Amino acid sequence: SLPQQVTLVEVGPRDGLQNEKAVVPTEVKIQLINMLSEAGLPVVEATSFVSPKWVPQMSDHVEVMQGIQKYPHVRYPVLAPNLKGFQAAVAAGAREVAIFGAASELFSKKNINCSIEESLQRFSEVMKAAGEANIPVRGYVSCVLGCPYEGKVAPLKVADVAKKLYAMGCYEISLGDTIGVGTPGNMREMLSAVVREVPVSALAVHCHDTYGQALANILVALQMGVSVVDSSVAGLGGCPYAQGASGNVATEDVVYMLHGLGIHTGVDLPKLMDAGAFICRALNRKSGSKVSQAACKL
Ligand code: HMG
Ligand code: MG
Repeated sequence: SLPQQVTLVEVGPRDGLQNEKAVVPTEVKIQLINMLSEAGLPVVEATSFVSPKWVPQMSDHVEVMQGIQKYPHVRYPVLAPNLKGFQAAVAAGAREVAIFGAASELFSKKNINCSIEESLQRFSEVMKAAGEANIPVRGYVSCVLGCPYEGKVAPLKVADVAKKLYAMGCYEISLGDTIGVGTPGNMREMLSAVVREVPVSALAVHCHDTYGQALANILVALQMGVSVVDSSVAGLGGCPYAQGASGNVATEDVVYMLHGLGIHTGVDLPKLMDAGAFICRALNRKSGSKVSQAACKL
């Protein structure tokens, strides 16, 4: 059976824009986030407090956090890889953060410059500080259906990292198909392993659409009881440390599918499409959303 309601976590301003080569003006990011809030998205991941040497595009994180209009019913989490990032995020006004680990050693090394074990050590420092400041923390696990450096990733490895992040106190674990290589087949297999360690109510799926499987993978996750889905407006994105990864599944396409299934999201699709059109104009590119492409021809 399917959930009656799904919480969408909009990651476009972060996962989408972090990958852009040309600097996206801060005012454009702020307007995009405001438009996404206006469209009824309950969660908009706003930016990352990572090293500007590693991801220059996110170096205006303070200005973004301070410039956006904070809608009362919208949460604006930000990525924080370590205590330094956490402290900077909180100082800039963040009320929620996300730590991000991986199920693959080589990806962990390339993405955050440490082993999985070392990353868990860093994350536990963040969890301690977050606990003291009463800040909820989301945990990402990357490469859950494949790694650009290691290839296949064992479902038990994903379950193990997810379990450790959950045991540390993350309220939700987002399972990332970072390079979009998964299929409904291995999504089912991976989730079966993870739900033995983490309650399904605390799981989210984060699908990239490189191989065009994202909506199918999400549908399988919904059938297995997952009710939180990450997506990116206009299908923006990729990952700077996962070459060839295309964007996240487009939020417009997820909303269209969910509404078609009679699942409530709270999102106003036309307003969401306006936000998608706005960012595509600013980036001078075509939308990655099939729904937006189709609607343009009407
Ligand atoms: P490092 O070089 O190992 O860090 O980077 P370090 O602790 O050795 O410090 C080196 C320098 O960085 C020092 O400055 C630190 O102060 C500074 P210096 O003394 O040389 O001037 N530094 C920082 N500066 C700003 N913010 C910080 C911070 N920490 C240290 N938080 C580090 C380690 C984790 C910082 C680096 O590897 C990094 O920033 N990585 C981020 C990579 C990233 O953002 N990747 C994309 C997001 S993950 C993703 O997209 C996947 C996801 O979407 C899910 C999925 O799809 O699977 C979430
Ligand atoms: Mg991602």
